[in-house]
Amino acid sequence: MPLILGIESTCDETGAAIVADGWEVRSNVVSSQVDLHAKYRGVVPEIASRAHLQNILPVIREALQTAGITLGQVEAVAVAHRPGLIGSLLIGVTAAKTLAWALRKPLIGVDHVHAHLYSVVLEANPRPPMPAVGLVCSGGHTALYAMRSMDEVSLIGSTRDDAVGEAYDKVAAILGLGYPGGPILDQLAQKGDGRAVRFPRTFLERNSLDFSFSGLKTAVLYHVRGVPGKAPALPNQPPTGQALADLAASFQSACVDVLIEKLRRAADQNKSRSVIVGGGVSANTGLRQALSRLNLPVFVRQLRYCTDNAAMTAGLAHRYLNAGQFSPLDLDAIPYSRFTEPPVSR
Ligand code: KG4
Ligand code: ZN
Repeated sequence: MPLILGIESTCDETGAAIVADGWEVRSNVVSSQVDLHAKYRGVVPEIASRAHLQNILPVIREALQTAGITLGQVEAVAVAHRPGLIGSLLIGVTAAKTLAWALRKPLIGVDHVHAHLYSVVLEANPRPPMPAVGLVCSGGHTALYAMRSMDEVSLIGSTRDDAVGEAYDKVAAILGLGYPGGPILDQLAQKGDGRAVRFPRTFLERNSLDFSFSGLKTAVLYHVRGVPGKAPALPNQPPTGQALADLAASFQSACVDVLIEKLRRAADQNKSRSVIVGGGVSANTGLRQALSRLNLPVFVRQLRYCTDNAAMTAGLAHRYLNAGQFSPLDLDAIPYSRFTEPPVSR
């Protein structure tokens, strides 16, 4: 049963995990940097990379200890080397390369978005029937994937502006709530009426599988502060009590309606037999309830495998290990996903 050490440092969580056989999680350690970034209401890249540098070795050590193994028992070292914040990625990639070199073990670089899709396999039986449609929704990504298998994945739609998690975080900032905004708004939404405020649902062109959340975010801003040049609809300060819960629920139902409708279109267009959901926003209560509207088997894991973690990285790497596909020791940190065209330089 090959044991793989996985390393995660794509954004603001430092993670290390030991996974056996691609699905059995022996340890999954995540050191969150939320407190460091909270006062900026978003991730500050330089702070993130410095914190990764401090945390990475203790986190790896703890993952080994929790799994009750030594470094020598690790079969391969896996790292999420794309996409992400370049300074953050470099810390995990450098640690992984150094360990692989020192241990003379294979290095396996995996795509973090691909790992989010793979997360549904962790500790799970049965596996999703294929073809499937995959949704990765987080603070950095909102994208749909056609999956013919766990390895044959293609991008079929993505956000043209904000990621849905980013919209949650920014709306929370508008409302004077804490960071990250997703869990706070989700909790408030459960006490509110989702029909209280009719926010726009942006579906874009007919049959489009792309997303846009920036208009919704602006609609919340205008609702709270008033449309510039016009009298404010509400006093120029965030609502409280039931009005705040109703606002959160209305924002949440606009996000969820769009995610579900796009999933439905994608599933129809690709004749999907199941739906796979990963990324931090897949923890959302409203989204989880609404997924049952799709009338397809839905695969989504518990919170610790939805948000950024290294278990999904180590799990996915098992497939590369089986196929004998290893990365060279000069593996690069790359800011964009393997499923996305590289940005064109102008
Ligand atoms: O996957 P993740 O840990 O990191 C990224 O790759 O971005 O996702 C973090 C994002 C944040 O934007 C956070 O606000 C959002 O996921 N999030 C949620 C919930 N829990 C986390 N959004 C909505 N509802 C939640 N329950
Ligand atoms: Zn992520």
